Amino acid sequence: MHDVLVLNGPNLNLLGTRQPEVYGATTLGMIEDRCTKHGASVGLNVSHLQSNHEGVLIDAIHAARGVQDGLIVNAGALTHTSIALMDAFASVELPVVEVHLSNIHAREAFRHSSYIAPVALGQICGFGAQGYIFALDALAAHLTPGSGA
Ligand code: DQA
Repeated sequence: MHDVLVLNGPNLNLLGTRQPEVYGATTLGMIEDRCTKHGASVGLNVSHLQSNHEGVLIDAIHAARGVQDGLIVNAGALTHTSIALMDAFASVELPVVEVHLSNIHAREAFRHSSYIAPVALGQICGFGAQGYIFALDALAAHLTPGSGA
């Protein structure tokens, strides 16, 4: 088993009621449950953290070094603004998969750029809650090449 931390940033605690026409009706709790179950089926021990505070997310990324084998992150709006988050990911040298529920490239111009993307293995966006499952599969395949995960 590999250990993976799923990080969710600002406002994602409101999933389910927050602009469901954009982000869907699935709550963050439901996403976390699905990730935990799916993760176990592809050899990942998944834990979760959501915070509305940039510094809490940065502390969690630092704490992941030497503890976690990979990270999945939906940094919410911090994606488009936070050099500090980018630096934190670069500093811990863990594989990171970036997730967004919505297709950020099909939305306002300010959402098209990501400070996470340059330090991530890749970005998954536009597939709603299913994107987190795709991210787990991507991380499982990266951590165990040839596993077919
Ligand atoms: C988001 C996209 C961001 O632009 C936005 O600020 C969010 C959610 C997404 O999952 O689609 O909070 O990261």
